[in-house]
Amino acid sequence: WATFLDDIRAIEELKQQRNAIILAHNYQTPEIFHCVADIRGDSLALAREAQEASADVIVMAGVHFMAETAKMLNPDSTVLIPDMRAGCSLADSITAADVRLLRERHPGVPVVTYVNTSAEVKAESDICCTSGNAKRVVESLGTDRVIMIPDEFLARNIEAETGIKMITWPGHCEVHERFTPQEITRMREDNPGVVVLAHPECPPEVVAVSDFSGSTAMMSDYVQAHDGGKVLLVTECSMSDNLALLHPKIDFVRPCNMCPHMKRITLSGLRHALETMTHEVTIDPALAARGRRAVERMLAI
Ligand code: 13P
Ligand code: SF4
Repeated sequence: WATFLDDIRAIEELKQQRNAIILAHNYQTPEIFHCVADIRGDSLALAREAQEASADVIVMAGVHFMAETAKMLNPDSTVLIPDMRAGCSLADSITAADVRLLRERHPGVPVVTYVNTSAEVKAESDICCTSGNAKRVVESLGTDRVIMIPDEFLARNIEAETGIKMITWPGHCEVHERFTPQEITRMREDNPGVVVLAHPECPPEVVAVSDFSGSTAMMSDYVQAHDGGKVLLVTECSMSDNLALLHPKIDFVRPCNMCPHMKRITLSGLRHALETMTHEVTIDPALAARGRRAVERMLAI
């Protein structure tokens, strides 16, 4: 605790000195999420807040694609990420060349790209989406077919919701792909009355046995509106840890799966990032401009 408190005090001072803010994703550990973050939320909220931010320095307590999106939307700020290895299995699953190939195979079909991708992949896309707006984005295109990449399960879940045919890519979130419908059914049996909320990166069979599916922010909102009872969040572990501190009357049923990339961000890493101004996330300006188009088109919806 002494080290934690020392890091928290140092981070607060450094934020003042550097005119910096910390953006924290919902999967960050409670000491980051509750003690040093200035802005908290899902990928969509963090992108919106990064766009609006007037700080000189934005520190991303999240993964690399989130920092890149922040830089794209706020090119004048210095964007830092404490650990460059904080990646994402979805972002790693697809390249810009793959997107060009998909376009060649399916001429005229719009490309909707999940924000969990590199700047190069966003630059090849028509529009981006997050788990919080995927349905709205897909429906806004007015087509009966969409190339939705790289998360196959998100695409299948949105296909089930909208009836729009998805051309998919075999990318998966290494955290959410591990949940099974058998596991959810067993936890329901062990916890009568439990409400099951699943992230749409889960396989469709898991979403099918859940009561609600939505982004991490949508899960938070749902929990806020039902302040009591038992809740099972079929997602990353820290989500329940963070919400449990805010909602002591709710009994959160765990287990969960942990994202090793999100867990590369630590309090001491955030302190070090602000002390040394590392690691700065940069994007070639021409590439950033192409990627920004797809992200801004999403934000306009
Ligand atoms: P959200 O946009 O729902 O926060 O999801 C981001 C993510 O990485 C989920 O695995
Ligand atoms: Fe990527 Fe999954 Fe980790 Fe989210 S939880 S950052 S989608 S690997």
